[in-house]
Amino acid sequence: MSLIDNLKWRYAAKKMNGEKIPQEKLDYILEATRLSPSSSGLQPYKVFVISNPELLEKIRGIAWDQSQVTDCSHLLVFAAWDGYSEERVSSVFNYTMDERGLPHSTMDEYKERLMGLYKPLGKEWQATHAAKQSYIAFAMAIAAAAEQKVDATPMEGFLPEELDKILELDKYGLKSTLLLTLGYRDADNDWLVNMKKVRTPKDEFFVEID
Ligand SMILES: Cc1cc2nc3c(=O)[nH]c(=O)nc-3n(C[C@H](O)[C@H](O)[C@H](O)COP(=O)(O)O)c2cc1C
Repeated sequence: MSLIDNLKWRYAAKKMNGEKIPQEKLDYILEATRLSPSSSGLQPYKVFVISNPELLEKIRGIAWDQSQVTDCSHLLVFAAWDGYSEERVSSVFNYTMDERGLPHSTMDEYKERLMGLYKPLGKEWQATHAAKQSYIAFAMAIAAAAEQKVDATPMEGFLPEELDKILELDKYGLKSTLLLTLGYRDADNDWLVNMKKVRTPKDEFFVEID
């Protein structure tokens, strides 16, 4: 099946059946997530992969009681840096240079320019910028899940500050941004499963400038 066919197959499942997804499918989805591009290659986010039933129950409590949170196979929590710092940026760039066999100083000029741009914009702007990067990885995970015929529900319907407390994200310098449940649809009980997929018509969606 083509990517387009898989994207037509997928939908934001409202009811999942509790079945576990095979490890290799999970690994594939996670790897696609990890391979996502990000601004300056910083990957300013982490992905928590949660299958612990008690923890899922707790998270459901701060996620509008959405049943997919407990009926999924795995819950991915996307959490982005709460800000950019010299130390964080250096750590990523140094690792990249090590992997490429280049001296750390290769990135010095770029790093200085980047921090010169980010610093004055403040921590809130920085956290938002980092959160935006996590949305790109999130989309990769959704597409990869569809390719694996694994259902996935993207979710912003939760209380981020509460989830941050549950997962003690301040210890990591992170803020939760998104949830993605992975599992299998409960087709007999999901009101959305047979609904037509609706998107903005092409002639309204695209603006062609020749
Ligand atoms: C960022 C984001 C947040 C969303 N939050 C929720 C959510 O909390 N609960 C839910 O059931 N669906 C949620 N959705 C699903 C959307 O409603 C759904 O993707 C949209 O209506 C398009 O339908 P489709 O995904 O079934 O094609 C979210 C989707 C995105 C991309």
